[in-house]
Amino acid sequence: MTKILMVCLGNICRSPLAEGILKSKLTSDSFFVDSAGTGDYHIGKNPDSRSIAIARKHGLDISNLKGRQFNVSDFDKFDIIYVMDESNYRNVLLLARNEQDKAKVKFILNEIHPNQNYNVPDPYFGGNDGFENVYHMLDEACSVIATRLQN
Ligand code: 4NP
Repeated sequence: MTKILMVCLGNICRSPLAEGILKSKLTSDSFFVDSAGTGDYHIGKNPDSRSIAIARKHGLDISNLKGRQFNVSDFDKFDIIYVMDESNYRNVLLLARNEQDKAKVKFILNEIHPNQNYNVPDPYFGGNDGFENVYHMLDEACSVIATRLQN
């Protein structure tokens, strides 16, 4: 089984959306997709209502997901760890114990813009447009990920 973890800061806006989108594209039992935040502000919370709404608009239900914090054991549990931005990247790498852990961590937008290390912008403090924008970025990246993993 290939296990993929989506990581952002709060685990209520970007990474639960990325989790829901990738799950919808990887329907076989050979894949497991989860998400986590580097911060501890929203542990146990459902996704932000704006992320739930944008997912619902595109036919996905992420309303039952629960926030959790990234921890070092995730390096053992997951094969690929996709981060949304450079701050997530730094925070996850700070917990890496060795080169093998580090090699699992990738910028999700590098799937569509190789080696650019672009950020998925944090939509938390903005309006609904930000969520639509993030949805489309993640949908494009997850399509590439799903196609590659299934081939
Ligand atoms: P996320 O967005 O990292 O995409 O889940 C955020 C959610 C909450 C906060 C920051 C970003 N916060 O500061 O509470």
